[in-house]
Amino acid sequence: MTTVGKNIELAVTLLSENEIVAIPTETVYGLAGNALSEAAVVKIYNAKDRPSFNPLIIHVATVEAIQEYAELDRISQQLAEAFMPGPFTLLLPKKAIVPDLVTAGSSKVAVRIPKHPLTLRLLHKLNFPLAAPSANPFGYVSPTTAKHVLDGLNNRVDYILDGGPCEVGVESTIAEVRDGQIILHRLGAVTAEEMEAETGLKVVRKTDHQQLDTPGQMKSHYATKIPLYLGDIPTLLQEHKDKNIATISFCKSYEGLVKGHQYILSPKCDINEAAQHLFAVMRNIDEFSFDLIIAERFPDKGLGRAINDRLERAQAIHK
Ligand code: TXA
Ligand code: MG
Repeated sequence: MTTVGKNIELAVTLLSENEIVAIPTETVYGLAGNALSEAAVVKIYNAKDRPSFNPLIIHVATVEAIQEYAELDRISQQLAEAFMPGPFTLLLPKKAIVPDLVTAGSSKVAVRIPKHPLTLRLLHKLNFPLAAPSANPFGYVSPTTAKHVLDGLNNRVDYILDGGPCEVGVESTIAEVRDGQIILHRLGAVTAEEMEAETGLKVVRKTDHQQLDTPGQMKSHYATKIPLYLGDIPTLLQEHKDKNIATISFCKSYEGLVKGHQYILSPKCDINEAAQHLFAVMRNIDEFSFDLIIAERFPDKGLGRAINDRLERAQAIHK
């Protein structure tokens, strides 16, 4: 049985016994276990049905703690100090203490300091880092509430630490300093422009065919069960006239659609609020018998870019 609550001491006890616990972060909920325990890490992969060639992010409490597990070069340290705790993950050369199972055999480890107060308190109480992928069955939309975690992983996790709805709503930015540049592996709330302003270095986005570097970045992630198309809503509505359609839009409503079938992510056109609501809305629509989801492209800046990236991946699986 999975139980849900706010008991940090219970989470500490379970994690110290190499059990797994779902934890809130400001991005999405994570499925956490002792990163230094292979037994705990195996439980994480199993609970998610996640292939073990897909490496996990480790979560720590402080920038100093990062250096116990990874080599922190000067620029990476500067990025860490600027953006952590926060929705930001660094890919770094790993130290031997991190099991190969966590990094799927890679010599690099992904490290992050989450900003959620409950989880930060939890991490300060532990003397080991937490390996934590998003707390959803492999391939499905990431959870942004404790209820989402329960929906996907009931009886597969002992305890869900309930920290309320996630503030950011999409997974962390993943970046790596390499050859005097910053490689952007995953789009998130910390933007390329912010990293460039902080370091003066050029930020280069990895394109999909190069994505073997971050295996979880395969297309066909974050997918709803109902097919999703991304594009111009009026045009796609015309093309699929005979279907029962739900739409996902930023702040506008569209003519010719039942009101209850239109999911508007932020009526006041706030991109941060839109990101907060995105995954909950995708999950919500999936509970009804729509034939098709049509989503529009969001403004191509800030979190809008991360939203477009997730919608593109949600679309890819149905092609
Ligand atoms: O916001 C987040 O980052 C959330 C919260 C829970 O922290 N976590 C998360 O984890 O999104 P996950 O496992 O769903 O996505 C982690 C991504 C995957 O795409 C994985 O391939 C990449 O990070 N990654 C992790 N370790 C890596 C490594 N050693 N080398 C390359 N990519 C790595
Ligand atoms: Mg994930």
